[in-house]
Amino acid sequence: MFMNQTQSFWRRLWIPSRRKWLLGIPMGGFAAVAVGALSLSAFHGAINATNANAFCYSCHIGMDTIVEEYQQSIHFNNETGVQAQCADCHVPKEFFPKMLVKIRATKDIYHQLKGTVNLENFEQLRVHQAEVVFNTMKNRDSKECKNCHNPQQWNISMQSIRARNHHDPAAWQENNETCVDCHLGVAHKKPAIY
Ligand code: HEC
Ligand code: HEC
Ligand code: HEC
Ligand code: HEC
Repeated sequence: MFMNQTQSFWRRLWIPSRRKWLLGIPMGGFAAVAVGALSLSAFHGAINATNANAFCYSCHIGMDTIVEEYQQSIHFNNETGVQAQCADCHVPKEFFPKMLVKIRATKDIYHQLKGTVNLENFEQLRVHQAEVVFNTMKNRDSKECKNCHNPQQWNISMQSIRARNHHDPAAWQENNETCVDCHLGVAHKKPAIY
């Protein structure tokens, strides 16, 4: 798959070494980045860089099929040219929830280096991953979806009949429903459990 310079920069950082003792090097690199990030402007830069698609691609390409699926979805490629990036859906915009996601995601560095997820076992592991993501989004009342699709602002008369029949925020509230209850598989294959 084609990668630009930033993507290959991030990717090189993770390449797990065959020799156990070399594992310390990427970890050490990470500690260095963390120390550097203590200066405030660098901190902002680092947080923005870790929100870019290139950063997510650096691990998820080759590990699973998530990026390829995303690139075939309407959120990557549509007639308007408005694109939802990985972080638009998976990382909150507000400071504290965003930091919580970042801190939680440091576990992924460990799993990346260990090679926990790979193309052979992904189809099994993704069922659980999808559940984790679903629960997160459900608990946030699909806040990240609504950053772009605001039900207070959408023009329902322009929507399909099927959509109109299901797009009643008062009914959602009554049934404790939110966007992801009806819309999974908007950027990746729909999880097998639903
Ligand atoms: C350092 C490598 C690495 C990077 C960079 C990375 N991921 Fe991951 N990601 C992983 C690994 C490994 C897993 C599986 C971890 C597990 O099963 O607990 C994972 C799992 C996930 C999951 C499944 C839910 C979960 O928390 O387990 C989501 C969603 C996700 N990543 C999104 C992203 C997004 C969005 C980005 C970019 C902002 C990103 N990842 C960047 C390695 C990475
Ligand atoms: C339009 C919103 C959206 C975008 C953009 C998006 N995702 Fe997701 N992602 C979801 C939703 C919703 C789920 C929950 C399960 C599902 O629908 O597949 C999910 C699930 C996942 C999972 C769990 C595995 C699975 O099969 O469900 C991973 C890993 C993940 N996303 C990573 C990423 C990465 C990496 C990117 C960018 C390449 C990305 N996502 C872009 C909405 C999005
Ligand atoms: C960064 C903005 C953005 C975010 C975040 C976002 N979307 Fe979208 N969504 C879009 C755009 C742009 C389109 C394509 C509109 C078009 O061209 O018709 C779209 C299309 C859709 C469609 C129509 C699909 C189709 O086949 O026509 C659904 C359903 C949808 N989004 C649901 C969601 C859900 C659920 C989430 C949260 C998990 C989400 N979106 C997050 C921007 C976004
Ligand atoms: C009770 C189920 C339900 C809920 C909750 C729901 N939707 Fe939908 N939505 C639908 C159905 C059904 C369609 C029509 C899909 C089709 O025809 O394939 C649709 C269509 C759409 C479309 C495409 C518009 C069109 O004209 O077809 C978008 C965008 C969308 N939904 C976004 C959202 C967002 C964002 C939320 C949360 C704020 C949401 N939906 C909540 C059921 C729901």
